[in-house]
Amino acid sequence: MLKIIICLFFIMQLGSHFKVSAQTPLTNAQWTLAYNSLVMSYASYCSLDQINSWGCPTGICQSSVTGGFFNTGNFHVASANLSEVIIEESPIPGLPDSIFTDVVHYVAIQGSQHFLVFRGSNNTENWAEDFFVTHSTYIYPDGTDSPYKVESGFNFVWNNLKDDVVSQLTRAGCIGNCDLVITGHSLGGAISTLAAFYLSQLNPGWTISVRTFGSPRVGDAAFATAYNNEVINTFRFVNYQDSIPHLPFEWGTDYIHVNTEIWISTNQTGTPFSIPPPAAVYCPTTEDPSCSDSVHINIWSILNMNEFLYFHRRYFGNDLETFCTGWTPAITI
Ligand SMILES: *[C@@H]1O[C@H](CO)[C@@H](O)[C@H](O)[C@H]1NC(C)=O
Ligand SMILES: *[C@@H]1O[C@H](CO)[C@@H](O)[C@H](O)[C@H]1NC(C)=O
Ligand SMILES: *[C@@H]1O[C@H](CO)[C@@H](O)[C@H](O)[C@H]1NC(C)=O
Repeated sequence: MLKIIICLFFIMQLGSHFKVSAQTPLTNAQWTLAYNSLVMSYASYCSLDQINSWGCPTGICQSSVTGGFFNTGNFHVASANLSEVIIEESPIPGLPDSIFTDVVHYVAIQGSQHFLVFRGSNNTENWAEDFFVTHSTYIYPDGTDSPYKVESGFNFVWNNLKDDVVSQLTRAGCIGNCDLVITGHSLGGAISTLAAFYLSQLNPGWTISVRTFGSPRVGDAAFATAYNNEVINTFRFVNYQDSIPHLPFEWGTDYIHVNTEIWISTNQTGTPFSIPPPAAVYCPTTEDPSCSDSVHINIWSILNMNEFLYFHRRYFGNDLETFCTGWTPAITI
């Protein structure tokens, strides 16, 4: 049923035009940070043992595009945790309750910077179908209601995680004038967005930057505006025809993406990541019609999740489906 609704919304989305706007002004150092953030985001799908011991293979973590990041600055994982979140009361009328998701979140340290990394659900098929329908009120750190609406599933997950995450950061020494980069892929990108907004309000003295990959839309226009004013240093990467950033749909909903999108405007699959990456487009306008919003998604691909998630799983020359297999300790299935 939900698949059919999603298909209908995709049909509504057809008909926009393809244009290419200005080259991205990201510096090479910013692209290096983006690549390293993608590696940390994809690594969140590996086992907790692999994350904690950082058994990242040479081809990924010692590639020249890392700038030596993982071998210098005493890079290490301070703590990796898996939180189980059970949505006992489905926000979607008519659907069974007890939607289950588990979210890995870890803190890494490199030099004077802290990194907070969120994994999406390890079951993308489930959340892509079950989330995205209703929204609920974002709650300020002081516990009062904000005027902003955010997607109910993301909001529920963040509300359940936030106390753990705050104490995880404190344990890792992210205090005082903490310089914090928050990063995640997919659902992890959505949680990163909520976390950054919350932590920025909670700790005005912190320097917070955000790098997300294939994030869905998180909240309404009021949320996006408030977020854009609060967490200015945000880059939201979208890989070519990745379908997840098109969810939840704009049409008939209030959902609007946060800034600033960087769109990879051609199929770079199978090409090793290089700096600056070819075909990267800078998109300073929210929902820029010449960026990923211009993409015509094959609406029927949702019936085949491998096709639907093809570009979602292939950011920056790394294939999520095989990403963790070269890590140590080896995955035992
Ligand atoms: C998170 O992991 C650390 C060790 O890595 C552990 O001490 C802590 O209890 C965990 N916290 C939760 C909430 O699981
Ligand atoms: C997700 O992780 C949980 C707990 O780690 C596991 O029980 C479940 O089988 C995993 N699901 C998928 C689809 O990998
Ligand atoms: C993208 O490019 C790769 C590598 O050239 C190719 O194998 C793949 O079929 C292309 N995918 C799509 C959907 O265009």
